[in-house]
Amino acid sequence: MKTYFILLAFAFLSVFHSEAAGEKFIRISTNETDLILQVASDGRLYQTYLGNKLVNESEFGKLPYTLGKVNPGASVLKREVYPCSGTEDYFEPAFAICHNDGNLTSILKYVSTEEKRIDGNVTETIIFLKDEVYPVEVKLHYITFAKENIIKSWSEISHKEKKPVTISRYASSMLYFDAPHYFLTEFSGEWAREVNMTTQELSFGKKVIDTKLGSRAGMLTSPFFEIGLGKEPQENSGEVLMGTISWIGNFQFTFEVDNIKNLRVISGINPYASNYELKPGEVFTTPEFIFTLSNRGVGQASRNFHTWARNYQLKDGKGDRMTLLNNWEATYFSFDQEKLKELMKEAKQLGVDMFLLDDGWFGNKYPRSNDRTSLGDWEATPNKLPGGVPELVKSAKETGIKFGIWVEPEMISVKSELYEKHPDWAITLPNRTPYFFRNQLVLDMSNPAVQDYVFGVVDKLMTENPELAFFKWDCNSPITNIYSPYLKDKQNQLYINHARGVYNVFNRIKNKYPNLPMMLCSGGGARCDYESLKYFTEFWCSDNTDPVERLYIQWGFSQFFPSKAMCAHVTSWNKSASIKFRTDVAMMCKLGFDIRLNEMNPNEKLYCQGAVSNYNRFKKVILDGDLYRLVSPYDGNHTAMMYINETKDKAVLFAYDIFPRFDEKLFTVKPEGLDPGKKYKIEEINLMPGAKSSLNFNGETFSGDYLMKVGLKVFSTSKLNSKVIEITAE
Ligand code: GLA
Repeated sequence: MKTYFILLAFAFLSVFHSEAAGEKFIRISTNETDLILQVASDGRLYQTYLGNKLVNESEFGKLPYTLGKVNPGASVLKREVYPCSGTEDYFEPAFAICHNDGNLTSILKYVSTEEKRIDGNVTETIIFLKDEVYPVEVKLHYITFAKENIIKSWSEISHKEKKPVTISRYASSMLYFDAPHYFLTEFSGEWAREVNMTTQELSFGKKVIDTKLGSRAGMLTSPFFEIGLGKEPQENSGEVLMGTISWIGNFQFTFEVDNIKNLRVISGINPYASNYELKPGEVFTTPEFIFTLSNRGVGQASRNFHTWARNYQLKDGKGDRMTLLNNWEATYFSFDQEKLKELMKEAKQLGVDMFLLDDGWFGNKYPRSNDRTSLGDWEATPNKLPGGVPELVKSAKETGIKFGIWVEPEMISVKSELYEKHPDWAITLPNRTPYFFRNQLVLDMSNPAVQDYVFGVVDKLMTENPELAFFKWDCNSPITNIYSPYLKDKQNQLYINHARGVYNVFNRIKNKYPNLPMMLCSGGGARCDYESLKYFTEFWCSDNTDPVERLYIQWGFSQFFPSKAMCAHVTSWNKSASIKFRTDVAMMCKLGFDIRLNEMNPNEKLYCQGAVSNYNRFKKVILDGDLYRLVSPYDGNHTAMMYINETKDKAVLFAYDIFPRFDEKLFTVKPEGLDPGKKYKIEEINLMPGAKSSLNFNGETFSGDYLMKVGLKVFSTSKLNSKVIEITAE
């Protein structure tokens, strides 16, 4: 007992002693990255290092940003991990609060650290900080995924003041970088032109990427970014940070280059119109900021994200995905039961797994025949669908395919029975003329009664039709007319509580229907945050299905998401591209069709059937394999990507000539990720019926070494030409 006390006292003293000397380090690491934090002698927490993993812990004290005796003059280099407003750090704070007495300052001091091993690969570190003057606490959370080299970070804020406090900054995390140059790649867009990648150098001051759209938050910019440290982000070399915020609502990234050329990256909820009133004892949990730091360019960073998402984040990340036929572009609102039955037969002929019924099936008093009415009335329209949803599920079963359905349950049309019953459920201003986006309003998800109703839409359909196999969950409007009748004088809680309400419903659905595959859709690809993807198996990348546009859009989303999560459909957009070109593009993701078979000639039909069966044969490689982006569409007239399985014995290479110039010089494409010692057979597949491969090496065998060093001449000077090449180890 005595020895125990002596040991305990010693342990306490030694921690205290090293803290006083400014030498207590907290190490947060994956197999490749170290984030090293230091408790300095002032009791505050600083970031000393974020970079490639260090071998010797004994050298932490020598790191240039270590404070204390090693770097006595280092005070100007202080990089506080969670800096607060009102302190001597004159840059953008991570945290700002108004205390009960009106004071606007906080200083957070280190209290303790807790480390939890979740499994052999995953570790959580929680760092407790508190203000010594006000009863305010912040817990910083970090979860590391060692093998995938991914780190999640978020914070929890709480207090014990007498009355609610107002927090006006509540970052998920703040990170510092130290490089001679910083280049930011952002992903901006609009409806039907998502994720355009543009890169710019950051110099002194701030660049902010944020959104104020509320629920279709990612319509103008997506919740992720890349930073090239030293030089522009490259595919296969250089140090890059790739980060994303798991938040379906307004988000904000602030990139600030400070006086000593540190780059400060602050990620979190956008505090716009959201000074949050936090009650005593209530815990404010920020969304997760998820990042990877790669020293082999964005290609490796993307693969880190893809593997991690499949292993840990995406709903049914390891499971299979269904191919489908969707009727949106094939029919728009004009269909009835008979036409749908015909389409189901076409789906069967095509060989896909499922028929997905889109918008236009609901509304009784106000049947949905255009986008102006009926959202909220989720009953099948009797004169269109006399047998209702049960009849359709039954027909699909008889045809030998599964049946899925589209809903947009967070929305309300003024012309609906729901609005007649519950006008106060809509987010809309009582004293101004409403502004409508796509003729609709957004339901107030901060209201628990609305959450119950929205959950009930899916629950009722599933209860009545337990064999429903799939949901496409849409959200076509940003929040307009920002006013919640439910929140009354607490309007600044609306954006945050609304987003939390949406997640609450997603969570309830997943709990009750854990095996139900669901597609996240938001007027195209305006929703794709990794928190939502816990509840969704996939997302719709864009309403733009022109295959040329899709090459860019899919290139953009592939930076962060595995192909398994990205839905791509073959449609009639851009008919100057052949059905083969359109299908070859969609096959790089989760394949679907949204086209009438009766628009195709027999050869095209045959081609599509062959493509579906090829896809089924190697979809594991595409959906679960490693992606190598070989030639960027941003770099010229051609593009190529490949997927390879874990054992490196099967790969599929996709090559596209977009708009090549006359007689232009063609370069080889060098596959990556192969085993140099293995021999691989090259075979062009997905050819039009009766067509022969134009590749003079088709059917030949090459070593992985040769292929990766010399490459293959797969490009041509024909416009809108595509090739799918199977690479198989012998
Ligand atoms: C959105 C979706 C489309 C389709 C329509 C239906 O635009 O992105 O795929 O479902 O809504 O109205």
